[in-house]
Amino acid sequence: MKKLYIKTYGCQMNVYDSARMADLLAPLGYAPVDTADAADLVVLNTCHIREKATEKVYSELGKLKRLKTRRAEEGAPLLLAVAGCVAQAEGAEIMARQPAVDMVVGPQSYHRLPEMIARIARGAGHALETDFPAEDKFDHLPEEQVVSGPAAFLTIQEGCDKFCTFCVVPYTRGAEFSRSVAQIDKEARLLAAKGVRELTLLGQNVNAYRGEGPDGTRWTLARLIGHLATIDGLERLRYTTSHPRDMTEDLIAAHGAVEKLMPYLHLPVQSGSDRVLTAMNRGHARSDYLRIVERMRRTCRHLALSSDFIVGFPGETDLDFEATLSLIREVGYAQAFSFKYSARPGTPAASARQVPEAVKDERLQALQAILTEQQNTFNASCAGRVCSVLFEKPGRKSGQAVGRSPYLQPVHVEGAAHLIGKLREVRIAEALPNSLRGVLADNTDATAQRAIAH
Ligand code: 5AD
Ligand code: SF4
Repeated sequence: MKKLYIKTYGCQMNVYDSARMADLLAPLGYAPVDTADAADLVVLNTCHIREKATEKVYSELGKLKRLKTRRAEEGAPLLLAVAGCVAQAEGAEIMARQPAVDMVVGPQSYHRLPEMIARIARGAGHALETDFPAEDKFDHLPEEQVVSGPAAFLTIQEGCDKFCTFCVVPYTRGAEFSRSVAQIDKEARLLAAKGVRELTLLGQNVNAYRGEGPDGTRWTLARLIGHLATIDGLERLRYTTSHPRDMTEDLIAAHGAVEKLMPYLHLPVQSGSDRVLTAMNRGHARSDYLRIVERMRRTCRHLALSSDFIVGFPGETDLDFEATLSLIREVGYAQAFSFKYSARPGTPAASARQVPEAVKDERLQALQAILTEQQNTFNASCAGRVCSVLFEKPGRKSGQAVGRSPYLQPVHVEGAAHLIGKLREVRIAEALPNSLRGVLADNTDATAQRAIAH
């Protein structure tokens, strides 16, 4: 057996891709390991979204180069591959900056890894695959998947046609593309048969999904969700990441109609200022976003929201920033991600006048203080309620299990270790800073006191 170490950076789509790369390399005799030290092949699955993420890759490559030299001296060669969005964006540059790299493969062509490894074994030199190939990568991935717990990701859509002026995704992941309903249905059923109870449908613009249905028409995400909800064994459905422009009526309605669909929505807004939203080319105004939130809350009473925010976008004034804070106060988030704007090569905003770093720092701190307060308030509001928990793994204490609430909060429960892989009603006893503590609720109690949907 050969050993494979994959290090994953960035988003959940990369997590899915890393798992699929492992599935793809298993027939070649590669078994996954947890560190690079003993590996025969190391894959860095990289993220290009912000400069910091990209720089991390080059510093990791520096360390791996030293490991590779040592391993060559020991006569146990190490193969080094860079995959993901840095590979796509900077393929040739990676090879030039770090000659220890054997293979560079983009997110649309990693199904070619076995071929690339064979080429290197033949002594044909370095391999670079960063085309957007005409063939569909998904047709070339093995059906067989290693499942690592009751919650799984399934990529249904890739790419982005929105071209927000700060973002590299349309360049690294390419144009919007949706997998067919048949392909997704098959993968979902195989996962359910292996014990998966919760499926998160993934896409850079997941709600722009328009895959071909078995009837030859293009299905929306709402229709796909309605269909997947009929699969036995699947008990929870989620989707991420959505764009406000694609929050269609039928998708909003699905949150009221499909019980398995979790009452949680990650809907990035980036900014609360119309001036900035226009400069970002978001294609929606502040009021459009607020209207969607209102409609979602009317349809799904227990909905909780999450978002992404960027502070210090070029030209953002104090007043613009205040508008973002006021939007946050108006919406009230259960959780959120926030970032300082990072100028990305080749994107339109990179050449505009930049906001000073100190101002960005200050704004990020102020914004995160409010978001943390909102998260604490939301977690505290869960105490005393009963909600469903999908138990995923053992906790630190003996007999304890850790699961997720409908809102993705980790929930620790004593005496639940035998329930791993199962969904149970839990009474939340206490809200801690980043997790909840609960006790198993018996069913009669749960029905009588159920306060959170699902
Ligand atoms: N700078 C900072 N944050 C960014 N994001 C995307 N591009 C940039 C950038 N250039 C953030 C957005 C997006 C999330 C995935 O990353 O908030 O929603
Ligand atoms: Fe990037 Fe905007 Fe596309 Fe999201 S919608 S991936 S932020 S360009």
